[in-house]
Amino acid sequence: MKVYDMFSGIGGFSLGFSLEGFKITACAEIEEYPSKVYAKNFPNVINYGDVTRQKYTIGQFDIIIGGFPCTDISIASKTKRGIYGERSILWKEYFRAISEIRPKYCVIENVFMLLGRGLNEILSDLAKIGYDARWTVIDTKYTGSPQRRRRVYICGVRDGIPRDSNLFEFEKRNITELREKILLIDKSFEWDFREGEEKRKGFTYHTRQRSDEFKNLGVSGTLTKRDYKSFTDLVVDNIGVRRVCPTERLRLQGFPDDWHLEDASDTNKFKYNGMSVNSVRWVANQIKKFESKYGRRTNGTI
Ligand SMILES: C[S@@+](CC[C@H](N)C(=O)[O-])C[C@H]1O[C@@H](n2cnc3c(N)ncnc32)[C@H](O)[C@@H]1O
Repeated sequence: MKVYDMFSGIGGFSLGFSLEGFKITACAEIEEYPSKVYAKNFPNVINYGDVTRQKYTIGQFDIIIGGFPCTDISIASKTKRGIYGERSILWKEYFRAISEIRPKYCVIENVFMLLGRGLNEILSDLAKIGYDARWTVIDTKYTGSPQRRRRVYICGVRDGIPRDSNLFEFEKRNITELREKILLIDKSFEWDFREGEEKRKGFTYHTRQRSDEFKNLGVSGTLTKRDYKSFTDLVVDNIGVRRVCPTERLRLQGFPDDWHLEDASDTNKFKYNGMSVNSVRWVANQIKKFESKYGRRTNGTI
């Protein structure tokens, strides 16, 4: 299945899908630094650049994946205009690509605030062109990484979603069980200030609260682009207190340590942190299972 990663950034979506065996054949990214990182890690994938200038043909790709800019959607948004904002309106370009290519699947990712700032419109846009869709919220901390990162994933399916299918396995997801596991991991990393020096081991994340106080929540807070000027988390380890370093940021997102360019500045490493590869992998795996069970149907056989 040929995959097109729109708004590809440093390639988190592509990495998750390729680790699940999908073949990424094209991407689209306009910014220089992320484009270079992407090219380093996916040298055979063509970068179309600006999505607004692309012309597509029907059947060009089987799957389109992409997280369009969240600038007007996120909690930090000044405009709060959602998908009608100046940058997040790029959803319409994503939608145009789906309408013109008509891939079998499309996967859209965005921040949690999309629930009230565009999800309705996206689902109804998809319905208008005959795509069934399911959506869910996945928190990275439930997919194997100690970071709180809630993201909305929408999966559109051209040939319909049979009623008996459970694309996002809602029934099987035992959040309570997972939560207990996460707490166990968190506890093993906790360091109690009252304990003696000899017991100093491991580390804890301390996340900045709205009041500007730092609190130990067990997992790290959501990594953000603006962490290069300010910072959300502090790490308390057996040496002292420090910021989360670029390699830890990559690990928290599920990327290999050498993902960035070797000579990259810290600003770039902080600014471009991609997306949760673990969560993407989980979604890609769900699509794989769905495809092997229902993939041979054609339109209208629900
Ligand atoms: C939310 S980020 C995507 C992150 C990406 N999935 C990753 O793993 O790094 C959105 C990306 O869209 C890119 N972008 C914005 N406008 C674009 C355009 N007109 N054409 C292509 N890419 C664009 C931005 O530079 C940014 O990297």
